Amino acid sequence: MTTTPHVQPASDALRHAEVGGSRAPSNAPAARGSGTVIVGLQWGDEGKGKIVDLLADRHQAVVRYNGGANAGHSVVIKGERYALHLIPSGVLRPNIACIIGNGVVVDPDWLSRELDGLHARGVDTSGLLISDRAHVVMPWHKAEDELRERWLSEGALEPIGTTKRGIGPCYADKALRGTAIRMGDLLRPDVLSARLASICRLKTAMLGAITGPDQGMTSYDPAAINELCQSWGRRFGPYITDTAALLRARLSAGQSVLFEGANATLLDVDHGTYPYVTSSNCASHGAATGSGVPVTSIAGILGVMKGYSTRVGGGPMPTELIGNDADRAIGEGIRARGREYGTTTGRPRRVGWLDLAAVRYTASLNGVQGLCVMLLDVLAGVERLRVCTGYVLEGRHIDELPPDAYLLSRCTPVYTELAGFGDITQARSMSDLPSAARAYLDFIERTVGVPVAYVSVGPDREQTIAAISGGAGAGSSGIGGVAPKAAR
Ligand code: IMP
Repeated sequence: MTTTPHVQPASDALRHAEVGGSRAPSNAPAARGSGTVIVGLQWGDEGKGKIVDLLADRHQAVVRYNGGANAGHSVVIKGERYALHLIPSGVLRPNIACIIGNGVVVDPDWLSRELDGLHARGVDTSGLLISDRAHVVMPWHKAEDELRERWLSEGALEPIGTTKRGIGPCYADKALRGTAIRMGDLLRPDVLSARLASICRLKTAMLGAITGPDQGMTSYDPAAINELCQSWGRRFGPYITDTAALLRARLSAGQSVLFEGANATLLDVDHGTYPYVTSSNCASHGAATGSGVPVTSIAGILGVMKGYSTRVGGGPMPTELIGNDADRAIGEGIRARGREYGTTTGRPRRVGWLDLAAVRYTASLNGVQGLCVMLLDVLAGVERLRVCTGYVLEGRHIDELPPDAYLLSRCTPVYTELAGFGDITQARSMSDLPSAARAYLDFIERTVGVPVAYVSVGPDREQTIAAISGGAGAGSSGIGGVAPKAAR
C-alpha cells in the first residue's frame, strides 16, 4: 500500500508547545541542569516515595521512568498512609504534572484501581499523564509470569521470586515487538482489533505449551480482549499523550523535573544481582531512556537507602540476619518496627545488616551526589550495629560487589561494629540526634564517599531532617532544590 505524503507548511513543521506561559519548540535542546533523579541504592523499598513527595513541590513535573505495578511506594501525610504502585508519588502535591513515562509497563486494571482509590480519598489526579509509548501489561503477561515461576520451582532451576505482576513477560514482549501493545495502541481500536486476533492465537498456543496438555488451557478470546482494550482506551484516553515531547518542552522552558526510579539499583536488569533482578533499568541511567529526555538534562542524583538492608524474593543477600537465634531475633524486630512487608504483595521482606559495600557500588554506578538515609529510627534499641564494608570471596578480601548472584552467594561479609542508639523519632535536626546516630551517619558518608542529604526518623513527612552540608555535587542551590544547611 502506498500513501500520498502530506506536505505541511514550514511554520507547522516547527511544532510549538505551550509550557508555563512561554512557547518553546518541543524539539529544542533541553536546558541543562533541570532534572533530578531519585534512585534506590539497595533492593527496593528504601523509602523513595517519601523523598519524591518531599521534593515534588520544588519541581513542576514528576516522572516515573521504569517498572510497573511490581513497585510500591508508600507516603505518610499527617498519619494517613498512601500506597502507590504506578502513579508517581508527586500526585499527592497539587499543581504538579505527574507523568508515567515510556519506560514503565502499565497494568491498566491496576492503574484504574489506584486512581479510584485516590479519588475516593479526595486526591486530585488531574495532573496525571501517561506516555503513549508505555507498554501495556496484558492478562497473558501475568499468566506467563506465574507459569514461569512455577516451572522454575519444579525443575533444577530456581524461581526468581517475582511479584507475578507480569513485568518480565511484558518487557520481553517490548523487546520482541510484534506482539507488544503500547498505551497509544489503545487509542486506535480498529488497528489493534486486527492485531489482537493473531496475538491471542499465539499467546493461547504459547501458554498452552508451557502449561502442558492435561493442565487445563487458558484460551484468549480476541473479542473479549478487544472489548477490554477498548474500555481501557476510553478510561485512559484523556491521559495518554507524547509525554517525552512534553517533558523536553518543559525542560527547554526552564522547568525542573523530578525523575522517580522504581525498584532499585541492585534489581537493575544490567547492573543488579542478576538473574535475581527485575526486567528494567532501575538505575539512574534509565531516567533518560525511560522518559525520553537528553542525558544532559539530568543535573542531580539523590540515592535513597535504609539504615539496614531488605530484600524480597530470591537471590543472595550476604548480610541477611538468619545466622543464629540472636540474629533472627534482631531481624524480626527490625521487620516489625519497619513494617517490612511488601507494599505490593504483602510478603515479609528478608532483613539484614546495612551492606555498605553494596551501597558504595550503587552510589558510584549511579553517580549519586547525596544520600537519603531512611528508616534510621527503626534501628533504635539494637545494642550493637553491624555494617558490612567488604566481603571475603574464596579467601580473598574484596571491596567491590561481584557482578552476579553466583559470586555474591559465595561472599562472606566483613563487618565493622558501631554503637546503637535509642528513640530518635522526635529529632528534627542533626543536632537533635544522639551522638551514636550521628556517628552511624558519619560512617556511612565516609565509607560511601557521598554526603548525607536527608535523614528520615519516622514515616511522616515531618519526620525528615535536611542534613546536607554542601558536600560533593550539592552546589549552592543543592540537589533536587535542597539548599545546603549549616554543617553539623
Ligand atoms: P518482578 O519485578 O516482579 O519480575 O520481580 C523480580 C524481583 O524483583 C523479585 O525478587 C521481586 O521481589 C523484586 N522486586 C520487584 N520490584 C520490587 C520492589 O519494588 N521492591 C522490592 N523488590 C522488588
